[in-house]
Amino acid sequence: MKSMDLLIGQVIRFDGDPFRDGPGAARHHGHGAVAVEGGRIVDVGEAALLRPRYPQARVHDHGQRLISAGFIDAHVHYPQTAIIASWGKRLIDWLNSYTFPEEMRFSDPAYAMEIANRYLDLVLARGTTTVCTYATIHPTSVDAIFTAARARGMRLFAGKTCMDRNAPEGLRDTARSAYDDSKALLRKWHGVDRLSYVITPRFSPTSTPEQLAALGALWREYPDCLMQTHLSEQTDEIAWVRDLFPQARDYLDTYESQGLLREGALYGHAIHLTERERARLIEAGASLIHCPTSNTFIGSGLFDMTLAQHLRVGLATDTGGGSNFSMLPTMAAAYEVAQLRGQSLHPAQLWWLATQGSARALHAEDRIGNLAPGMEADLVVIDLASTPAIEQATRRAEDLWQQLFPTIMMGDDRAIAEVWVNGHRRAP
Ligand code: GUN
Ligand code: ZN
Repeated sequence: MKSMDLLIGQVIRFDGDPFRDGPGAARHHGHGAVAVEGGRIVDVGEAALLRPRYPQARVHDHGQRLISAGFIDAHVHYPQTAIIASWGKRLIDWLNSYTFPEEMRFSDPAYAMEIANRYLDLVLARGTTTVCTYATIHPTSVDAIFTAARARGMRLFAGKTCMDRNAPEGLRDTARSAYDDSKALLRKWHGVDRLSYVITPRFSPTSTPEQLAALGALWREYPDCLMQTHLSEQTDEIAWVRDLFPQARDYLDTYESQGLLREGALYGHAIHLTERERARLIEAGASLIHCPTSNTFIGSGLFDMTLAQHLRVGLATDTGGGSNFSMLPTMAAAYEVAQLRGQSLHPAQLWWLATQGSARALHAEDRIGNLAPGMEADLVVIDLASTPAIEQATRRAEDLWQQLFPTIMMGDDRAIAEVWVNGHRRAP
């Protein structure tokens, strides 16, 4: 017989989308419980109801701590783990000075494995149970992150980064090899355990139209895969794209014209969009991934959160362009970026973005990102008074949001009391 675990504490779950339905889309149980069996959530509700319903369950009583779906980081570059928080550059300089030299080191499979393990340990300790990551151009860097995720039972999305121009010798593939290597990796890993392959052209400046076309063709062969890339992050980058693709209507058109725009496309950043781009992204049902700490750190601009009313928006750290591995400061930065645009975000919206919103952006909302019967048991238990500064700020809290917001704004890995992956306790 399978053994059952019953986690007791405050519980947050979502019945709807707080961008459409308001904060009432979140459901809060002040004394709730989550029943977990065989890697799945089997029941969620009031502790007073669930305790007698499952008398044989192993009980984990977390008191006032908050039980939530694990965080989902929808856009990261795990190979940039060791260069996070590198000082003083804007995008193109930053790529050339820090990113490309570091990504070069992933030609060594042992180094790739070391960083993949280090990265997943860092994010699990911060309550992130799923990421969608770029690897490097080296196929072994994809093997490394999938192997590390599989060993931890994680649901994880990753793909080989493809670049056939404007990158240094040693970090370039070709249209042909990008297609062949991506296809071989996809066939090797896609659907194995909880792993999904993502077709990954880095961005238009580092791919020829021929490479984008080859990856568009691959995507037509494997339409249930996701495709990830970058779009309109900095104004210099957009001007560069204009020079490189003189025939394109705009940045999005460089993807669209090669079969790289439809449902299942994930565009990181998407800050400086034209009216045509916004309309086409909405019409096509694309996902946008907001990376607020990266956008302030690299100085890119302020994402327009009103887009979340029209299409799937996920939240992400963009490690290592982002300045943190944790989704808590990422939610804080999303709040601040929205403030600067006069778009105040409710804590329910922030929490939703870091869980269900990212799951929806990855088309995985039927499996992860929420607490409901049948969902995979990826959970985080949050200490809402993890530091003296946070504890004193919650003393007069009158509802969950007032209790939670100081942790969103000031919390870090100390707030992560427990993490469960696929029904097993993993960290810290
Ligand atoms: N655009 C293309 N590559 C990258 C990257 O690695 N990080 C960020 N922030 N933007 C990019
Ligand atoms: Zn990125």
